[in-house]
Amino acid sequence: MRKNIIVANWKMNLNLDNAIALVRSILDNLSFENQPEIIFAPSFVYIQKIAQMCRDKKNIFVASQDCSANDDGAFTGEVSANMIRSCGAKYAIVGHSERRMNFNEMTNILRLKVKQALAKSLNVIFCCGESLEEREKGIYLNSIKSQVSDALFHFSESEFSHIIIAYEPIWAIGTGKTASALQAQEVHAFIRSIISEKYGSNIADNISILYGGSCNPSNASKIFSQKDIDGGLIGGASLNATDFVAITSSF
Ligand code: PGA
Repeated sequence: MRKNIIVANWKMNLNLDNAIALVRSILDNLSFENQPEIIFAPSFVYIQKIAQMCRDKKNIFVASQDCSANDDGAFTGEVSANMIRSCGAKYAIVGHSERRMNFNEMTNILRLKVKQALAKSLNVIFCCGESLEEREKGIYLNSIKSQVSDALFHFSESEFSHIIIAYEPIWAIGTGKTASALQAQEVHAFIRSIISEKYGSNIADNISILYGGSCNPSNASKIFSQKDIDGGLIGGASLNATDFVAITSSF
């Protein structure tokens, strides 16, 4: 079912004490009425602790920031979807642009990661987004279409219903430059339309599509007021409890 969701993508930040203090402060200050679903995406090593802290909280869950493309086995340093699930996470982020760029994750790997996550009962937050060059050349919709369809459109309807899409224009991530609400809405509507063509309008109407890229308390309400924008994937502003709580009440 389509719902409003805010994800806190902490990236490689915070030590354990700071992570615990941040979650405590957010939980203490949330207004639980009409609250969107909230998902904390800490480093792998804090997943179990943060999941315990959120266990009895309504509509608050934990995601990993990535997962291995492989099943459990001889892959030193990797973290499998099975392990992530067993530590209490309900979601896995796959395909963040920082992983695509810094770790060379291409479509073939992303397909395997999504497959692993779904097979181990993790819902997937799949990220896509165009570069500045693609935007300036006017080919951003083609880029989004191939990122989404090449990685995801071979999944069955029932598998696809466990996927959330996060549109994150690369030029807006951590740069302070946000896509305007209309620029974001255009891409979100486009993503919904290609999903509708492939899986039908029922699935397209029910999928949550989140915006990410320099989202903060001053621009969140305008962005979330757009028809096809169901929430946000928040990086920098999710590290500050006051800013993050303000974003969660921006619907
Ligand atoms: P930002 O990051 O909010 O710091 O731009 C968003 C993200 O990368 O998920």
